[in-house]
Amino acid sequence: MRFDINTLDDVEVAGKTVLLRVDINQPIDRKTNTLKDTTRVRACVPTIRELSDKGAKVVLMAHQGSDIEYKNFYTTEPHSKVLSELLGREVKFLDDVCGPAAREAIKALKDGEILLLDNVRFLSEEQTLFEMKLKLTHEQQAQTLLVRKLAPLADLYVCDAFAAAHRDQPSLCGFEQVLPSAMGRLFEEEFCVISGIMESPARPCTFVLGGAKISDAFLMMNTVLAGGVADYVLTGGLVANIMLWAKGIDIGEASREFIRKQGYEEFITTAKDVLSKFADKIVLPTDLAFVKNGMRIETNIDRLPGDEMLVDIGKETATNYQRVIRDSKTVFVNGPMGVFEKPESEYGTKAVWDALGDTKGYTVIGGGDSITATNKYKKQDKIDYICTGGGALIRFLTGEELPVVKALRHGSKAKQHG
Ligand code: 3PG
Repeated sequence: MRFDINTLDDVEVAGKTVLLRVDINQPIDRKTNTLKDTTRVRACVPTIRELSDKGAKVVLMAHQGSDIEYKNFYTTEPHSKVLSELLGREVKFLDDVCGPAAREAIKALKDGEILLLDNVRFLSEEQTLFEMKLKLTHEQQAQTLLVRKLAPLADLYVCDAFAAAHRDQPSLCGFEQVLPSAMGRLFEEEFCVISGIMESPARPCTFVLGGAKISDAFLMMNTVLAGGVADYVLTGGLVANIMLWAKGIDIGEASREFIRKQGYEEFITTAKDVLSKFADKIVLPTDLAFVKNGMRIETNIDRLPGDEMLVDIGKETATNYQRVIRDSKTVFVNGPMGVFEKPESEYGTKAVWDALGDTKGYTVIGGGDSITATNKYKKQDKIDYICTGGGALIRFLTGEELPVVKALRHGSKAKQHG
């Protein structure tokens, strides 16, 4: 047992039905019904293979998409095809989560077989808005439909979804109340590596925070700055836009409206607070880019346009960030600097990733978009550790115990029956 949590070495799985929660949430190409990136799917293959090789009946539960940031739920069917290819064995798919069809299919599984259920977030109780509104305890989560329907069919619950470990949802925290539990190999690795780095980062230690999924970024920024872990925080994406707004910079109505629509206006107060305490450590863009008639236009932050969305950091800012990254001994990156999917707005993200590729410091990246950027700029072999977690990594860095870690501790106490 590590960290008071069972690993796969502590549990018997041969002939058992194992509910395995994975995070294979990936960008989807809806036109072709395929995954645009498979990094997270690959990362959970070792656990699935180990369980199947040991003769477990493996039932995979996963989510695809989010109801908060992107509002883009999608079926997990394409993932089953990728998993089948990667594992070299069939991963059955069923377009049901916990209804009669799913339960019959689970009962019919033979030793070593693998079944992927459909997106658990098709159930309202698995959605993040539901989590935030109702704040169910783990005991209450054990009473939800998913857990009540599936737990009686299983002998063991395994969580390999480190990337979703910050979520307090039944498929992640409810089963541990009623089933013996363990963490999978990926969860174990991510947990150990990140804990190790956080205890004593080589200095200077720089955090680069960007992207659109920012709910935890401000919380974490405060913790790593107040706790003295971060020497510098470089900002991009929405994090930077909110910070600039908080500082009194006119970022324009288009960007303000976007922030309001995302429900992120509340972070302005937090941003003001961290800026007032750590102004010398937080680095904000000095120039930004927008796109007009398909053309990239850069401008200093005191001359930003009123009606254009800000989509990237500018070249001056990018060069400055590159210098800081190259001079750092530890660099954590979560989130791109702009809309890097489009050629007109990828400059800042590419520049940051180039610096990550050639800095001598220890580099860690986390989050779906950061992984996509790493693959796009072919830096997979240059980055020291690619964490599948984005929000989970950030929450972990706040020092708060992750809900899934707490639940797994509880489930690790339950005895497994032979
Ligand atoms: C992620 O993409 O960070 C994880 O899959 C968790 O997704 P969520 O932030 O939508 O819960």
